Amino acid sequence: MGSNPTLSAIFEYLNLTLLMDELPLDKIDESWGILLNAARQVRSAAYCPYSKFEVGASLLCGNGEIVTGANVENAAFGSTICAERSALVRANAMGFREFPRLVVSVRTESVAPCGSCRQMLHEFAAFSGVNMKILLHGERDDHIRLTSIAELLPHGFKL
Ligand code: THU
Repeated sequence: MGSNPTLSAIFEYLNLTLLMDELPLDKIDESWGILLNAARQVRSAAYCPYSKFEVGASLLCGNGEIVTGANVENAAFGSTICAERSALVRANAMGFREFPRLVVSVRTESVAPCGSCRQMLHEFAAFSGVNMKILLHGERDDHIRLTSIAELLPHGFKL
């Protein structure tokens, strides 16, 4: 492939479009530090007796405040609310709708937000005109992944 410029170009394009930016933990811009710690801490508030999969989310609001959320499960599984949406509805009730940054933290390898959460994150990004930067953290990884809502959900639904 190295000698085939067309294949190299395709490979580079796929890497650019399909893979998120990865950064070693010690190379993260320190301005993420407080938000990352907030997401790690709130994980322990997760109510997840069914999956035992704790997720913590922390939102940086337009005015600099941090609002956190954890997943809350239910015996009727479909009624479960993810950490990201739990943080969003909490922040909205506090009067915040502009979110420049989000951190999602889990005990395992990092995970990316589910489709419903992406759509709700997209709603507030479109409302505020701010493309939220998203940091994905997993305790088992030696790196974090950096992305944005525009990257995770291009062409999100709008009314
Ligand atoms: N979950 C989240 O809180 N956020 C995600 O991004 C993915 C999934 C929760 C929902 C459920 O409580 C558990 O993880 C397993 O799906």
